[in-house]
Amino acid sequence: MNIDAIKAKLKDLLDEQRFLHSLGTMEYAILLAQRFGEDIQKAMVAGLVHDCAKCLDREELLNCAFKSGIVIDNIMINQPELLHGPAGSYLAKQLFKIYDVEILNAIAYHTTGRENMTKLEKIIYVADLIEPSRKFKSVEILREKSFENLDRAVVMAMDNTIKYVIEKGGLIHPSTIFARNQLILKESGEGN
Ligand SMILES: [Fe+2]
Ligand SMILES: [Fe+2]
Repeated sequence: MNIDAIKAKLKDLLDEQRFLHSLGTMEYAILLAQRFGEDIQKAMVAGLVHDCAKCLDREELLNCAFKSGIVIDNIMINQPELLHGPAGSYLAKQLFKIYDVEILNAIAYHTTGRENMTKLEKIIYVADLIEPSRKFKSVEILREKSFENLDRAVVMAMDNTIKYVIEKGGLIHPSTIFARNQLILKESGEGN
């Protein structure tokens, strides 16, 4: 399916705000792919489609998440916000005929992150947070950092998300903690 066909279908699937967010994420995913030498076409598709499951109801969300092949744990079930990543990777195959594993994983893991994230996964994780409609306090600093150092930007984006979830009293997914620890250890030369 070409990018215009995906856009047209996605527009029906999402509310207006979420559709604009998807276009913005695509825009930043392209910029980051150019900056860090990632496949631009893959970044474009993954950025555009990453939230395709965002407007599903809870039952559909669970259903798609379980069919995705991603391990769905208790934390995800109790923090349904996390399910639209895995569910989206399933929907991307079904609705948009996307079969590229790198793109599907970037969609699946944009909610939690994980250890050993690929460059494309990092790009989508960060683009999601710095796209133009995001307005949180430190977004400008994060935007700047994203083009300097992708790993640092992922850590900063995770810090931001973790703080937000804590303020809401929500659950932090262990994959986010593992990913963040690994990137920080790598920065300090302790990791692998
Ligand atoms: Fe999302
Ligand atoms: Fe998003």
